[in-house]
Amino acid sequence: MTRFITHFESAIEPGVTLPADCEQTMHNNRPLWSRYDLEGVKSSMTKSALKSRKSDMWRYRELLPIGDEIEPVTMNKSMSPVVECPRFAQQMGVKHVWIKDESQLPTCSFKCRGMSLAATMARHFGRTRIAMASNGNAGGAMGMYAARAGMESVCFMPHDTPIANQTECYYSGAKLFVTNGLIDQSGKRIREGHDRGLWFDISTLKEPYRLEGKKTMGLELAEQFEWELPDVILYPTGGGTALIAMWKAFKELREMGYLNSQTMPRMYAVQSDGCQPMVTAFEAGERFATRHENAKTIASGMRVPTALGDFMVLDTVRESNGAAIAVAEERIIEFQRTVAAAEGLMICPEAATCVGALEKLVEANEVSASDRIVIFNTAAGQKYFGSGKLEGIPEIDLTKPTDWDEFEAQYLPKLVGS
Ligand SMILES: Cc1ncc(COP(=O)(O)O)c(C=O)c1O
Repeated sequence: MTRFITHFESAIEPGVTLPADCEQTMHNNRPLWSRYDLEGVKSSMTKSALKSRKSDMWRYRELLPIGDEIEPVTMNKSMSPVVECPRFAQQMGVKHVWIKDESQLPTCSFKCRGMSLAATMARHFGRTRIAMASNGNAGGAMGMYAARAGMESVCFMPHDTPIANQTECYYSGAKLFVTNGLIDQSGKRIREGHDRGLWFDISTLKEPYRLEGKKTMGLELAEQFEWELPDVILYPTGGGTALIAMWKAFKELREMGYLNSQTMPRMYAVQSDGCQPMVTAFEAGERFATRHENAKTIASGMRVPTALGDFMVLDTVRESNGAAIAVAEERIIEFQRTVAAAEGLMICPEAATCVGALEKLVEANEVSASDRIVIFNTAAGQKYFGSGKLEGIPEIDLTKPTDWDEFEAQYLPKLVGS
């Protein structure tokens, strides 16, 4: 096998291409798409070849931006299961619901996928320190994959992020900072540090590799469904990377002729009404979202008031005949309990919003009883108990500019070799 990635394309400026054999970030502050020689992929990643491969995400390596010569940073995760949920389906008034349970991955969330690839590419391009703004699960996964890769990592998280997320990130040896702002505000500071050369910024869509790692959610789903995609996918959306990535995966598989039916799933971006910028934009017919002020939700991973990939999410739901749907914040725990009691699965609050979305879709006759429906449980519900602040974690005051000289002198020397 060689490497089948051919180039990158601007996600917004038609005709702008960038080479694939060197490190990329964004173009004009907009995300990039990775493009492949799909004929070449088809000749190497055949359906029968897949049958004899290990059940980890690297089984799809031809559709990832790495070739044989790049050693992946991996914890040998296997595929996440798709769990059929008949009792829950019946309660919802439909026949076929599956939960794709990403909580069973190494850091108990879907963030492993993107981080595994981001760490792989960062190490390949000689980076020794990666950084990001995170709502929790991604920061924990970054810390763990950076540790696995022998790299340093730096994370900015809101101070009220669940304690399990803070602990996971801190224990990994990441330099963790808590902030008095939300992820979009922290993201700007992490970018400033990137521009000063302090680290490589792997925040959502600020490099093109995490997106490709998340694409394996869609590739796996297609294979687990024997190349007959479900009718409906409900995805709890913050920055929306996995929704965008899965749709990209499905289109690549369709182009390669791997899908048994030309019918593509309707993709639903689900949000809490405590933070629903995508839904507001969708309902207004806009391609770009405006900031959701005073965002508040217990589904902390979805507390994303502005997203770099807003137009990619909105394009996806429209192109797939899906929608963006908001669900009442105060019902999230009820939805978690519904699934736990019906099926024995402790889904996270983010995924619980998809239960509310399904309820709405059934009421509005937008799904039929026979539709095959998949909900993504993006993390373990057990990670969300306990709030507060870990002892000794420094704070970044986002109301004031960061003095980077001071920051560097105070914190980064300690990082080197630590
Ligand atoms: C558990 C969980 N679900 C969903 C999301 C939203 O993911 P995305 O930003 O890719 O939309 C996150 C993000 O942190 C998360 O941690």
